[in-house]
Amino acid sequence: MPNTAALVLAAGKGTRMHSDRPKVLQTLLGEYMLAYVLAALRPHFGENVWIVAGHQAHMLEAAFPGGRFVLQAEQLGTGHALMQALPALAGAGCRHALVVNGDVPLLDAEMTRIFLEKAEGADLAFATLNLDDPGSYGRVVRAGGKVSAIVEARDCAPSTLKQHHEVNAGLYRISLPLAEALLPRITRANKSGEYYITDLVALAASDGYTARAVECGRDENLLGVNSPRELARTEETLRRRVVARLLDRGVILHAPDAMRISPFARVEPGAELTGPCEILGRSEVQRGARVASHCVVRDSVIEEGAELRHFSHLEGARVGAGALVGPFARLRPGAVLEPASHVGNFVEIKNARLGEGAKANHLTYLGDADVGAGANIGAGTITCNYDGRRKHKTSVGEKAFIGSNTALVAPVVIGANSLVGAGSVITRDVPEGKMSIARSKQKNLPRKKI
Ligand code: UD1
Ligand code: CA
Repeated sequence: MPNTAALVLAAGKGTRMHSDRPKVLQTLLGEYMLAYVLAALRPHFGENVWIVAGHQAHMLEAAFPGGRFVLQAEQLGTGHALMQALPALAGAGCRHALVVNGDVPLLDAEMTRIFLEKAEGADLAFATLNLDDPGSYGRVVRAGGKVSAIVEARDCAPSTLKQHHEVNAGLYRISLPLAEALLPRITRANKSGEYYITDLVALAASDGYTARAVECGRDENLLGVNSPRELARTEETLRRRVVARLLDRGVILHAPDAMRISPFARVEPGAELTGPCEILGRSEVQRGARVASHCVVRDSVIEEGAELRHFSHLEGARVGAGALVGPFARLRPGAVLEPASHVGNFVEIKNARLGEGAKANHLTYLGDADVGAGANIGAGTITCNYDGRRKHKTSVGEKAFIGSNTALVAPVVIGANSLVGAGSVITRDVPEGKMSIARSKQKNLPRKKI
């Protein structure tokens, strides 16, 4: 789409959300609302997608690093938002802009394609919906069948408010010369005191431009999200769709109604998941992997045949083929479990690799560590990786055996095939094949008379 840029209007506050965040940073299945809109646009526009940011713009920029932003410092309405973006769009050498409200997370690439196709040839085209309850949507006014204006609900005479069932969905394709010519003529003389993008329609129609309504019937994918209720409803719609799609593909889901899976996650046919659970972000669950109930998995990969037992929480982790995790395990960013390794209850792993077949089965913290294949980490072992200022690394060699309740004070290297006695505080390296005990000797003294 070399001639057309996409512009997402996302500067508004979203007053009805009662939140400090911009509305488009509210989440659905763990993803920002804006991420859905961008995903619908990217296939058509690549990098040529611009985002109008305003209210808490820095939060938006931080959430979408690499995004192309236009600043609307004062939010004076959707028409004003487009005005602010015109120089950037013209600079990108475009003739048209697909303008879309940032609060339509159900928009998808296919609908965008159809809309663009139907908008072709018009100077100004916009999508319309036909709603039984048109609520606060802008009403489409027609004269002799042709669109002549969009009147915002607030500015509509109460007597006619309920008569208009055709409403503006907030998706437009606008020729930039038209925008350049007509935007200076829109005013704030309305109930909201804002510049409305929708006023372009009446101006275009009266100036002899072709203005076209692309009728989209009752398509719920174009419904805007303005309130917590609408957010919940939309998220539930999305959730059900993801679940239905996975079931169709051959993923085994127990209690599917309690499953929250991001549409950006990948779950392979033959994986088996039990709700309630959450699979979020760019997670991947491969075939034959099993996820028990109450697990939360974000941006993590569960390889073939691996098993997550109940109540395990993963973020940015990789669980190798056939590995066993949990119940009640916590894998934090950078946790890498090699195939057939075991991590048991109340074990936390951060930025650490557990080698093939290695085990840390009980009450352990492994941070900034590398554990060799076949090593056994006893109950209550802790890597003391932080000295109050910096993090240090612990290395445990292959087949080493760390006795229970050991503190490994990093930086420290435990050699392969070595053994560390229970209760040790290890502050110096343990050579390969040695046995090391670092604890005070037990004394058995006579007990004082009671
Ligand atoms: C808007 C339309 C309405 C349409 C509805 C569809 C206008 C005037 N009205 O109303 O006809 O039926 O969408 O959902 O456009 N925004 C900015 N800068 C601003 C104001 C808003 O970027 O100064 C952004 C918001 O972040 C939001 C989008 O524009 O993503 C739409 O704004 P919103 O306030 O939700 O408009 P609606 O009242 O829903
Ligand atoms: Ca809206």
